[in-house]
Amino acid sequence: MTDNPTPDSAALPDGPAPDDGRRSFIKQASGFLGLALAPPLLGQAERLTATSKKVAGVSEMRLKVNGTVRTIQAEPRVTLLDALRENLDLTGSKKGCDHGQCGACTVLVDGRRINSCLTLAVMNQGKEITTIEGLAQGEELHPLQAAFIQHDGFQCGYCTPGQLMSGVACIKEGHATTDGDVREWMSGNLCRCGAYPNIVAAIRQVEKSGLKS
Ligand code: FES
Ligand code: FES
Repeated sequence: MTDNPTPDSAALPDGPAPDDGRRSFIKQASGFLGLALAPPLLGQAERLTATSKKVAGVSEMRLKVNGTVRTIQAEPRVTLLDALRENLDLTGSKKGCDHGQCGACTVLVDGRRINSCLTLAVMNQGKEITTIEGLAQGEELHPLQAAFIQHDGFQCGYCTPGQLMSGVACIKEGHATTDGDVREWMSGNLCRCGAYPNIVAAIRQVEKSGLKS
């Protein structure tokens, strides 16, 4: 019984074949390719690439929030809202639309109200950032917080941190002297529960009391 020739040996005549060089090149190339794609090496290369990208993209930032300077590590593209919520665990500021349309993320920066979803954390270094967590003085509620409770200025409460921060600024700006003014200047803060009349009443009460900050 004779051994069956392998397809390769059957196809190869004795002596050097014209395409021997090409065959040995293909074998060598396959060997290198096999090594290059070996799972452990491939995985290691991917991990190294991911790590270097991550380290390269992260910056150290110092944010002064509610009177305390906090240091975070975050990418320059991180919004102030995400930095507050994800890096500093200040989850009082809410993410409603993440597009500057609902006002749930309103915070004060150097006393001015802004949508924190529309500004980058890195741009707010060296500024005084006040969030809903910094509004009360210890156990003592801010007068507007107390007025919201008194006037039932919320139902589900999702929009409330933004309404409060915006309301405080609205009074300070002098834009709360009439109901119409309050409605106009608070129009960037939406409430799906429709607590608008009660919110206006709370803001007007605090404005009439003479509070300016
Ligand atoms: Fe910022 Fe809606 S979450 S405006
Ligand atoms: Fe529910 Fe305003 S209280 S969205």
